[in-house]
Amino acid sequence: KPLHFVTLLGSLRKGSLNAIVARTLPELAPEGITITHLGSVGDFPHYDQDVQEQGFPAPVLAMAEQIRAADGLIIVTPEYNYSIPGVLKNALDWLSRVAPQPLAGKPVALQTVSPGAIGGARAQYHLRQTLVFLDAFVLNKPEVMIGQAMSKFDAESLRLTDEPTRAYLTRQIAALGALATQVSPHTPDAG
Ligand code: FNR
Repeated sequence: KPLHFVTLLGSLRKGSLNAIVARTLPELAPEGITITHLGSVGDFPHYDQDVQEQGFPAPVLAMAEQIRAADGLIIVTPEYNYSIPGVLKNALDWLSRVAPQPLAGKPVALQTVSPGAIGGARAQYHLRQTLVFLDAFVLNKPEVMIGQAMSKFDAESLRLTDEPTRAYLTRQIAALGALATQVSPHTPDAG
């Protein structure tokens, strides 16, 4: 069965290195997998239960529906201060309150991109913790932490060009495909 994945981007910046990687993913997908991009987490207001009780913002509901319809989610995000950006946490907080909760039982792959050496590794373990409560099925390996990202893309096309990194990303997308194929329809717990 063909699979469809969606990407969620944790940076709002026009020149975002993470956006360069996310933009490149569709061309790196193996046969039988398509990848499209979700809307911007910058379209979500700050989470406020009072706002929620008056009705979920339209961009939240739209993204929840797109995630629910997808076979898997790829989160591509910077590391901020050894954790995830507030805008990404805000988006996950909103999405976690929508029913049915769109991340529950969803195969998810994580990618972090940084100009630094560690490639955002520390943020991934904070993100994994949040995704436990959301009851997502987070892919264990391969882990994608792209360091020294300034040297790995083409400034003209704004595409990731570093061949070993591209090949590694294809491996992760394939692994998410295998996970998505294994995961049976899942009943989220009540917690
Ligand atoms: C950063 N940056 C950063 N990098 C990193 O590897 N570990 C970190 O903990 C942080 N912390 C951090 C905090 C804040 C508030 C900012 C603005 C930046 C640097 C960061 O990786 C760099 O700015 C990236 O280019 C951000 O990703 P995008 O926007 O290019 O996708």
